[in-house]
Amino acid sequence: MATKRVLVSGATGQQGGAVVDALLSGEYGEYDVSGMTRSAESDAAAALAARGVHVVEADLNDRASLDAAVEEMEYVFLVTTFFEDGPEAEADHGRRMIDACVDAGVDYVVYSSVASADTAPLEHFASKARVEESLVDSGLDWTIVRPVYFMQNFTWLAASIRDGELAVPLAEDVSLGVVDVGDIGRTVATAFADPASWRGETVEIAGDELTLEGFAAAFSAALDRDVRAVHLDVEAYRAEGGDEMADMYRWFNEGGYDIDVDALSERTGIDYVTFPEYLDAHWASRSAPASA
Ligand SMILES: NC(=O)c1ccc[n+]([C@@H]2O[C@H](COP(=O)([O-])OP(=O)(O)OC[C@H]3O[C@@H](n4cnc5c(N)ncnc54)[C@H](OP(=O)(O)O)[C@@H]3O)[C@@H](O)[C@H]2O)c1
Repeated sequence: MATKRVLVSGATGQQGGAVVDALLSGEYGEYDVSGMTRSAESDAAAALAARGVHVVEADLNDRASLDAAVEEMEYVFLVTTFFEDGPEAEADHGRRMIDACVDAGVDYVVYSSVASADTAPLEHFASKARVEESLVDSGLDWTIVRPVYFMQNFTWLAASIRDGELAVPLAEDVSLGVVDVGDIGRTVATAFADPASWRGETVEIAGDELTLEGFAAAFSAALDRDVRAVHLDVEAYRAEGGDEMADMYRWFNEGGYDIDVDALSERTGIDYVTFPEYLDAHWASRSAPASA
């Protein structure tokens, strides 16, 4: 198979970074990988360059920079975020990149959205649903992956978990779907390896589903110490976590994602990382994550 030129947006971040890892692994074909960032001067950008990634400076707020970034590209991985500029801007970011891909004649775009983007009553999900709509209406060949809650989010709580307390605004008996970010990269690379069988498909990605007690038990086993589940009250959490995150946990507690890990594995051929496997790989060793 010929080497494909692919632009990975968010390459310095979690999802784009995982896509870069998968594409460079050689397991999904041969790629000439360009990684997009707003600053080629960062340590993360330098680390990409050291691995043979062409670092491309572009900003999702700047159409001209996107036109230059996607020129000559065959494939594009698109990820958007609301963290810095909010959900309105996130929808604009995605649409701007999609317009640039249309004008440049890009062959195939894989967009990472979020599970239940079109049904959850949450602004940072609805913004991704709007990007999805832009992509579907664009005339481009596309695949949409929709990840659930990242296993890596627990690193934000590393200090208190190591002190024996897992405090999250999840109610008793509520199961939360989780995914290892690495599996997002593997799923995206699986699509890039065979666009003909993936185009037009939207796939929700999860590797495991646990209650808060289940997460705490997994931490207890991995860290070899007792870790207690503490069910925070969503409204008490609101002051600290903000409305959008509090509303998300409220939605989780009312049912949340609807996932089927077995059907996903059958479709992709990927053996998705379970939560205990993620902990064994990232927390049980001396190099366990510190709190963010
Ligand atoms: N955490 C979860 O559980 C979860 C689950 C599902 C979906 N999501 C979604 O995942 C998204 C975040 O993905 P992530 O965790 O991979 O991101 P991340 O690690 O926070 O990294 C953000 C990336 O986006 C790039 N970026 C930000 N603003 C940009 C702009 N204006 N122009 C160009 N690049 C820009 C950054 O690049 P530079 O800084 O180098 O320019 C960086 O590479 C969010 O939309 C979130 O809603 C999260």
